Amino acid sequence: MEHGLATTIKTIDQRLSETLVGREDIRTLILALANATRKTANVIRGGGEIDLGQVIGDTNADGDNQKALDVLADEIFCQACSDTGLVRAYYSEEQEDALPLNDSGDYLVAIDPLDGSSNIDTNVSIGTIFSIFPAADYGQRDIPFRSGRDQLAAGFFVYGPQTTLFLTTGDGTDHYRLNPDNNEFEIVEVGLQIAPAANEYAINASNARHWEDPIAAYINDCLSGDEGYRGADFNMRWIGSLVADAGRIFSRGGVFLYPGDTRPKYTQGRLRLIYEAYPVAMLVEQAGGTAINGKENVLDLEPTAIHQRTPLIFGSSEEVRWISTYYDEDTHWDGHNPLFGHRSLFRKH
Ligand code: F6P
Repeated sequence: MEHGLATTIKTIDQRLSETLVGREDIRTLILALANATRKTANVIRGGGEIDLGQVIGDTNADGDNQKALDVLADEIFCQACSDTGLVRAYYSEEQEDALPLNDSGDYLVAIDPLDGSSNIDTNVSIGTIFSIFPAADYGQRDIPFRSGRDQLAAGFFVYGPQTTLFLTTGDGTDHYRLNPDNNEFEIVEVGLQIAPAANEYAINASNARHWEDPIAAYINDCLSGDEGYRGADFNMRWIGSLVADAGRIFSRGGVFLYPGDTRPKYTQGRLRLIYEAYPVAMLVEQAGGTAINGKENVLDLEPTAIHQRTPLIFGSSEEVRWISTYYDEDTHWDGHNPLFGHRSLFRKH
């Protein structure tokens, strides 16, 4: 796997022509998604006549309010997949059920067409997350995804100050930027690596009173800073768009946590396994990081429903490993403070 900053500028088409020899279908699909992103980015930039943040219709399959941009982006990406003729079925976070597209298609696309929709109104970064799976199990099993390891490619686009793409086809994670002068996605960095250690975490701290013990204890240790157990100060960021928080972690390390909590609808956290956690976990792992649900690797989880949620913790590998120790069964708890006997193993960390 190559890695490093781009020396000679390459477009996504040039890069994929080199890396996906013999896998032209995947290249075609990714280029079609990139094209749909150009259109979506244009709509977001211009705004036009439409109030993109307006709540329309009811709620999506997940119970979230659907906004005009959610629906528009879903249409744009679904059409792009359909036009390739390669996609057997389109699985969208915005749709209750899979949409069958092309009977002879060899692939399934799973997508969150507009991630971070609570940020649409506020001009904060939002994005599109996608995965490409083989269609071999489609029609054979209720859920044709066996685990996140089946993904052939995964990526997310961020509509922010720049429109960017983080992409993996199974051989490292590459970072692209949409050049506004020629409307091409150009490489910024190939084979990027998430720093293994970083003192920065992202969590919605307003849920603190609902957290489970391991998370409460971990965040408590971070908050105690250099006077506390970790002996180091931590910084916190929470953008409220998974794509933007993940993009920051790719660029300077850190961890993201959306754990399960005690609220009835949040026992499995907020994020969708198939549409959000799998693709982010593949990108993270391909960049040397780790993604877990607390105890297990996210990519090994087997889905039981297409819209199921999962707790999600990912980022710098050493910090994620540290967090996983709070879930160890032999950790003894004293309220929200684990006894130090077990964890003193890590004092030197
Ligand atoms: O997809 C859901 C999402 O918008 C993510 O992009 C983001 O990380 C999270 O929800 C924000 O959740 P909350 O509104 O609880 O902060």
